[in-house]
Amino acid sequence: MVDGKKILLCVSGGIAVYKAAALTSKLIQAGAEVKVIMSQSAMEFVSPLTFQALSRNDVFYDTFDEKNSKVIAHIDLADWADLVLLAPATANIIGKLANGIADSMLTTTLLATTAQVWIAPAMNVHMYDHPAVKKNIQTLDDYGYKFIEPSEGFLACGYVGKGRLEEPEKIVELLISYFKQHKQLHNFEGVNMLITAGATREKIDPVRYFTNHSSGKMGYAIAEQAAKLGANVTLISGQTCIKPPKLVKTIMIESAEEMLDKVLEHYDQSDVVIKSAAVADYRPVITYNEKLKKQKDHLTIEMEKTTDILKELGERKKHQLLVGFAAETNSLEEYAKKKLVKKNLDLIVANNVTTEGAGFGTDTNIVTIIDRHLNKLDLPLMSKSDVAIKLLEKIEAMLKEDRK
Ligand code: PMT
Repeated sequence: MVDGKKILLCVSGGIAVYKAAALTSKLIQAGAEVKVIMSQSAMEFVSPLTFQALSRNDVFYDTFDEKNSKVIAHIDLADWADLVLLAPATANIIGKLANGIADSMLTTTLLATTAQVWIAPAMNVHMYDHPAVKKNIQTLDDYGYKFIEPSEGFLACGYVGKGRLEEPEKIVELLISYFKQHKQLHNFEGVNMLITAGATREKIDPVRYFTNHSSGKMGYAIAEQAAKLGANVTLISGQTCIKPPKLVKTIMIESAEEMLDKVLEHYDQSDVVIKSAAVADYRPVITYNEKLKKQKDHLTIEMEKTTDILKELGERKKHQLLVGFAAETNSLEEYAKKKLVKKNLDLIVANNVTTEGAGFGTDTNIVTIIDRHLNKLDLPLMSKSDVAIKLLEKIEAMLKEDRK
């Protein structure tokens, strides 16, 4: 699956550079085209000639050594790559990238590329554990960089612990499965997607409200992946502490009523609507302007139904592909299918929110995707980002089916 892929290997300077040479060879054997950029310190460990011979391509290390006058090398390489692999990644290079420093051939290219960047750190165990390094890794993780964690074992510095560059075979395996996952996804350029995420809040008084456990992680993962694939994404989100995804227009709301208003405002111009938000089904009939005082032993709050936004969208549906979620605690499939039909959906994503690793707040989910023909796809435990990718694959196939 890396056959024909253009991989830009960025090598920074640590003892694990020798493993990057083996990695180059493994990638070439797997059918990839590899170009290599080395930092000055990487060249202290292994000569560029080694990488040149293994990759059968020129090796780049000097921003000002332009080999081809028709192009600017660091921009050309940044645009050329299907994937950039930074291995080994030292604490220094991670720090520079996290802080936007571009002072070499390697760092300028890393900042200039829009390809997915994978980072495989390798360093002394205490360096890897240092709060500054951890903070930089977190920053890059938030920016969407993918990490290949170092493995544990004997380190060249004499310590035993976490810090060894992952084995080249394992890195190639990870890249193969990455490309496999992305193989069917072309792009969603020109597709307007409206996605809802998180929980709504239904106010009782200025200090209290009814809500649920939705963190927004599922909806944000879908929004992020869809935007990466070129969709114009509008995300309507309940209050959450997750950072808004890059390239996504994010609108924050509080109540089900506010979500309804915003969704309807964007509905006509949307091609795909994905309702992963957990919307309150009921709200207090009265919202008090002042804090409700403690009085008797029991308090009764009268509740009234909110509008079922998804059902409303199903009734108004014209050209839109409508995707709902079903959060269930039992009879998952039966209830999900009922919602699919009742709300006039094209797809429903069912999750049992009582299963460990699935549902509210977790980074993972276990879902069953059911389409309007009642075809069913059971997915095992996977990250919410991977669920998002699987869902987008299904949506892409259905959009193609509808265009025929
Ligand atoms: O946010 P996370 O912590 O990552 O958790 C993810 C999740 C569990 C919230 C998500 O995977 C999920 O299941 N979302 C749907 C939750 C839900 O409200 O399910 P439901 O079965 O009650 O509603 C069915 C569908 O109708 C949903 O698409 C919901 O958005 C929609 N709905 C419900 C009520 C209402 N008044 N209006 C709606 O549009």
